[in-house]
Amino acid sequence: MPDPTRLLFVCLGNICRSPSGENVMRHIVDAEGLSDSFEIDSAGTADWHTGNPPDSRMNAAANSRGITMIGSARQVEPDDFATFDWIFAMDRSNHDDLLDVRDQCPNPTARLILFCEFCEEHEEDEVPDPYYGGPEGFEKVLDLLEDGCASFLKRWKDHVLP
Ligand code: 4NP
Repeated sequence: MPDPTRLLFVCLGNICRSPSGENVMRHIVDAEGLSDSFEIDSAGTADWHTGNPPDSRMNAAANSRGITMIGSARQVEPDDFATFDWIFAMDRSNHDDLLDVRDQCPNPTARLILFCEFCEEHEEDEVPDPYYGGPEGFEKVLDLLEDGCASFLKRWKDHVLP
């Protein structure tokens, strides 16, 4: 059995966007019978919510699409850049912060990329932070994540990742 492909989703707080990314991707991978081929996790650039479950509004929006949210928040760490194959930043600010984290890893091997690079059906280049907005923001997060995760998995299966 080849090594699993290791994916890490990263946002600011690790209670809205990145846990949704983790669980949307797991949902898609499980549905395709590929769960043994992936290890999927998420983290935040900030440590404010360490140990907390996903935000209740995000949880409700995901549940209504049939996606079960599991996991508790943790802060990203330099060693993640040596553990994961792909690190998906939800927005540019996360990406910039992750460059600083990567600088603290002696042997970084992960591919760091803005998640929306994988979206095919949406023009947005960032997954917007829904935390201080209304319910439509949580739906937008899921729309973008479902698009980009499905597209990533298709490219993974076709061996055409960038
Ligand atoms: P996330 O959303 O980065 O998608 O998890 C946020 C969660 C919490 C806060 C900001 C954004 N906060 O300010 O506590």
